[in-house]
Amino acid sequence: MLKINRLKVLVILALPATALICFSQLHTCESPRKEEPAQTHILILSSWRSGSSFVGQIFSQHPDVFYLMEPAWHVWVTMHQSSAKALQMAVRDLVRSVFKCDMSVFDAYMSEQRNQRALFQWEASRALCSPPACHLFQRSDIISKQACKTLCGKYPFRKVAQACKTYSHVVLKEVRLFNLKALNSLFADPSLNLKIIHLVRDPRAVFRSREHTAGDLAQDSGIVVGHRSELRKTEPYAVMREICKSHLEMYTQGSCALPSHLQGRYLLVRYEDIVRDPLALVVQLYRFAGLHLIPRLQSWVHNITHGHGLGTEAFDVGSRDAVNVSQAWRKTLPYPKVAKLQEACEDAMGVLGYRLVRSEAEQTNMSLSLLHPQKSLAQPGKGSPPASGSWSFQKQDLPCQARTT
Ligand SMILES: *[C@@H]1O[C@H](CO)[C@@H](O)[C@H](O)[C@H]1NC(C)=O
Ligand SMILES: *[C@@H]1O[C@H](CO)[C@@H](O)[C@H](O)[C@H]1NC(C)=O
Ligand SMILES: *[C@@H]1O[C@H](CO)[C@@H](O)[C@H](O)[C@H]1NC(C)=O
Repeated sequence: MLKINRLKVLVILALPATALICFSQLHTCESPRKEEPAQTHILILSSWRSGSSFVGQIFSQHPDVFYLMEPAWHVWVTMHQSSAKALQMAVRDLVRSVFKCDMSVFDAYMSEQRNQRALFQWEASRALCSPPACHLFQRSDIISKQACKTLCGKYPFRKVAQACKTYSHVVLKEVRLFNLKALNSLFADPSLNLKIIHLVRDPRAVFRSREHTAGDLAQDSGIVVGHRSELRKTEPYAVMREICKSHLEMYTQGSCALPSHLQGRYLLVRYEDIVRDPLALVVQLYRFAGLHLIPRLQSWVHNITHGHGLGTEAFDVGSRDAVNVSQAWRKTLPYPKVAKLQEACEDAMGVLGYRLVRSEAEQTNMSLSLLHPQKSLAQPGKGSPPASGSWSFQKQDLPCQARTT
C-alpha cells in the first residue's frame, strides 16, 4: 500500500500529465499493460422521431448500464447559430469525455453551480435515479421518469461522474451526429471499447411525425441545414435530405469502411423490425452490447410493448396495432408530399430496404408491403444469425464494392 502511494507521489512529481490520467482512470494506472478497457461504450445513433427513446430505455433500465440521452443537446443549444457540420467535432469530443465519465466537459455548456437536474433529460437515466447518484431507489429497480424526476433532481452534479464509473457499460443516445468518420479517433482510442447501434426508420413516417412536432424541432432543423435562408421554403424536405444522406453515409461507413479489426462494432436496426418483434430485437441488442437479458427486464419489455407500465411514455411498439400505427403515414400524408420526400431520400431508402411508392394507389394499398424482406442477417464476425428482426447486410449486399473500387 505504502509502496504504491510512494510510487504515485513520484509519478505525480515527475509526470503531471500521466498523473492526471491515473487520477481519472485508476485502472490504467494500476495495470498499464492491460489493454482491454474496463468499460464497454455503446453509441446509439439515430435521428429525431425514430424510436430512439425506446431503444435508449431498453439500455437505461439495465442494471449494468450508465445511460445518458442526447448529451450533445447542450452543444447545440449553446451554439444554436452554428451548423451541424461545424459542431460535429464538439459533439464528438463531448461524447468521448462522457464515455470516459469525465463530466467536466459540461463546464463549457452549463453554469458551475449545478446539480444533476441541469442535464438534458437526466431523469431518463435510471443510473441517475439510483445509488450512488440517488438513494431513493435500488439499482435493480425499473424506474419511471416521473418518479425519478420528483425525487432525485436535487443531487449534486458530481454524482453523475461518480455513478458513471460504477457501471460496466456506458450507453449514449445521440441524434446530433451525422457522420461516422468523426468517430474514427474514438474507435482508435485504446481506452474506449466503442460499438455503434444505428437506428433508422422509414423517412416517410419520420416526416409525418416531424410535421406534428415541427415547433419543437425548429431550432435543431435550422442547425441541420446550417441556417441557409434559400432553403426556408423547402426546409422540411431539405432537413430530411440531410438526415437521409447521413443515414446512408453512416451505414456505408459502418458496414463497409470500418477496418477489419473493427468489424462487429456496428449494427443497423430498423424501427419497423422492432415494432414487429420487440423482444427479439432486445435480445439482439443486448447480445451485441454484451449484456445479459434478465427475466425482470424481459417481463418489463413485454409489459411496455403491450400497453402497460412505461409504455405510453416510452414507445408504443408491440401493441396490437403498432404495425398499423407505424404505417399511419400511408393514409394521412398526401401523395405529392410523399413523392417529394422520396425524391430527397431515394438513395437511402433503396439501401435501407424501404420500397418507394409510385402512385397514390400504391401508397394506400395496405396489402402492399413497403418493407423489403430481411436479407441474411449474420452479425459481422459473430457467425450465427440473430433470432430475428434486424437488418444487417452481408458484405456482398452492399454498395461497398462500387464505392471502394
Ligand atoms: C408486468 O406486468 C405484470 C402483470 O401486470 C406484473 O405482475 C409484473 O410485475 C410486470 N413486470 C414488470 C417488470 O414490471
Ligand atoms: C390494421 O390494418 C389492417 C389492414 O389494413 C386492418 O385490417 C386492421 O383492421 C388494422 N387494425 C387496426 C387495429 O387498426
Ligand atoms: C394491392 O396490392 C396487391 C399486391 O400487390 C395487388 O394484388 C392488388 O391488386 C392491389 N389492389 C389494388 C386495389 O390496387
